[in-house]
Amino acid sequence: MKILFILLLCAFKEAVGLNVTIIGTGYVGLVTSAYLAEMHQVTAYDIDQKKIATLKRGTCPLFEPDLPELIQKNQHNLRFSTSLEEALSEAEVVMIAVGTPSLPDGSVDTRILMSAVQEIAQRLTHPAAIIIKSTVPVGTLKKVEDLFAAKNSHHVVFISNPEFLREGCSVYDIKHPDRIVIGTRSDRGMAIAKQLYNDALERNIPFIFTTPESAEMIKYASNAFLALKVSYANEIGRLCRATGANMQEVTTGVGLDHRINKHFLNQGPGFGGSCFPKDVRGIVALAENYGVELTLIPSILTANQTQKEYVCSLVRTALGGSCKQKTIAVLGIAFKANTDDIRESAALDIIDLLSKEEAMVRVYDPVARMPFIRENITECSSWQEALRGADALVVLTEWPEFKALPTDTVCELMRNPTIIDTRSILQLENQRNCFTYSNAQSQAMAR
Ligand code: UGA
Repeated sequence: MKILFILLLCAFKEAVGLNVTIIGTGYVGLVTSAYLAEMHQVTAYDIDQKKIATLKRGTCPLFEPDLPELIQKNQHNLRFSTSLEEALSEAEVVMIAVGTPSLPDGSVDTRILMSAVQEIAQRLTHPAAIIIKSTVPVGTLKKVEDLFAAKNSHHVVFISNPEFLREGCSVYDIKHPDRIVIGTRSDRGMAIAKQLYNDALERNIPFIFTTPESAEMIKYASNAFLALKVSYANEIGRLCRATGANMQEVTTGVGLDHRINKHFLNQGPGFGGSCFPKDVRGIVALAENYGVELTLIPSILTANQTQKEYVCSLVRTALGGSCKQKTIAVLGIAFKANTDDIRESAALDIIDLLSKEEAMVRVYDPVARMPFIRENITECSSWQEALRGADALVVLTEWPEFKALPTDTVCELMRNPTIIDTRSILQLENQRNCFTYSNAQSQAMAR
């Protein structure tokens, strides 16, 4: 009878979910909080009082499609706090999703994470599972385990659980993961992870149960591979232009091989964002730390820099050899569409290079804002304003708004309709008067 009661209690507990506390309300922490609140009681904690006050008012502090709606939908299971004591008091799972930026030498700065771990170790007074969600160098979970062993006598289990969300579509990604990676040395940790992601388990999403070290490495190896794939596409794109091959057709032909696949083969101005550049630097630093010689992975960073310079060289060539005193309209500041994030955006580097070549740069982005303005850089409030009187147009972010630019208006507004479409998104008709460098035009251009 007693056993039956315990079993019933366990079943009920599973149905009502876990008490989950998430440390950090950045892109990853907030999206994960809003999603897990569908099944669990979630407390999202942050030291940033302003952010938590905004969330408590029912406003989403990030520009992320579908996130405000998800927060609103699951608000009955979601609370926000700036008190760590309060956030930890009933937590069965403590998930850490704080930032791990690059240090000047390219290695990963885990100080914010380790100080959060210290504070949790001092305050946690009951058994719980600690999950590291942040991207951290291989060996970090072990350090967390050691720190707890020295500071906290309560029964705590540790899990490395990297995330694979893309900004701009993270709500879709969290609901439809390709896989869930769980790195733990503990059976109880494994059981808690299954309960936490019960919904995914029931939907037969693949789970990888592995060691913390392998889980940490999976994240770096995935991002470095994707960054390599983008850089590879960029290099093939440069070759297509030089040889007269059509990049879009080449990509289709290559991507249909299921061993390669079509994703992340879109050439662009160079990858950016808060993850690829940082994580490639991070894996390079990791290799140096272990005395392992790498050649391929470090070259991704060089290839990415070359791509940005290549875009500038296209503009220069199209303008007859010099950008000096030429008016250049730039569409896009964000590192990709559907985000206001400008961290390590290739657009910023390209704007910087054009401005240093003494061009008059007129920039427009529907959402992102310029972090620097110079005498020869003007931020415009519409694409029409940016294009007025321009000698060249450079498209750097693939916003849907830019896909539909009407040819006639573009040609009317620009002094000289020279177009460098680095994202291959424009669908300009009647290009008689337009001189374009888009992929679709690569054959024409090569002549
Ligand atoms: C990336 C990974 O895709 C996620 O799986 C991972 O979780 C995340 O980093 C992270 O580590 O947190 P994200 O940085 O949001 O996500 O953006 P991506 O969609 O991967 O794009 C990265 C960069 O590559 C962008 O500048 C994008 O424009 C560029 N890109 C991407 C291309 O130029 N071509 C492509 O085909 C794909």
